[in-house]
Amino acid sequence: MFITFEGIDGVGKSTQLDLLETWLKARGHEVLRTMEPGGTELGQEIRHLLLHRKGDVAPRAEALLYAADRAHHVATKIRPALELGTIVLGDRYYDSSIAYQGAARELSVKEVQDISLWAVAGLEPDLTFLLDMPAEQALIRRDDTGTAPDRLESEQVEFFTRARDQFLKLATQPRFEVIDASMAIPDIHSAVIARIEKAGLGK
Ligand code: TYD
Repeated sequence: MFITFEGIDGVGKSTQLDLLETWLKARGHEVLRTMEPGGTELGQEIRHLLLHRKGDVAPRAEALLYAADRAHHVATKIRPALELGTIVLGDRYYDSSIAYQGAARELSVKEVQDISLWAVAGLEPDLTFLLDMPAEQALIRRDDTGTAPDRLESEQVEFFTRARDQFLKLATQPRFEVIDASMAIPDIHSAVIARIEKAGLGK
């Protein structure tokens, strides 16, 4: 089972991933918790190039770097874990590229979808949680963390609104569960667990 969490910056994905990871492990499941960009050693270097290197990155180069990170991540970590029957919990996956590079960066959604699927040789998540919230609200929450914004986080609110709108379009697919990220942390967790139990992972 491959489960991913998506949403714009500041919606609280990491908190919910922590809670779900603990919940699944308490029920005896093998869990691999991972993230993009930067889920592998090579990926950490790509993450640095994408988020912390000084200077511009051309939009198509940005899209290809995210795809390269993901290609290596899937081939060396995610697929091998899934083959062993491990539950993989992903903090972002290709829906982030479609929303951020395709829609927010205004490359083509279709083209970014195509390169993403090529990069991962077609590996789709089984279940995707979209933590949804208006960009204005999410950015306030993110700024409250007090950490300096990275290259992507330095974008304007309109950028994140385009990403959010695209996430909501993607979420019409059956693998998605959309959750209102402005709810209290335990209520979001309960909504996650309800869907996880429906998927048969409660035992
Ligand atoms: P993330 O690791 O979730 O952020 P942080 O650790 O700072 O909370 O993601 C880093 C940034 O990369 C985030 O702004 C979203 C962006 N991103 C894309 O633009 N495209 C992608 O395909 C992915 C995976 C992330």
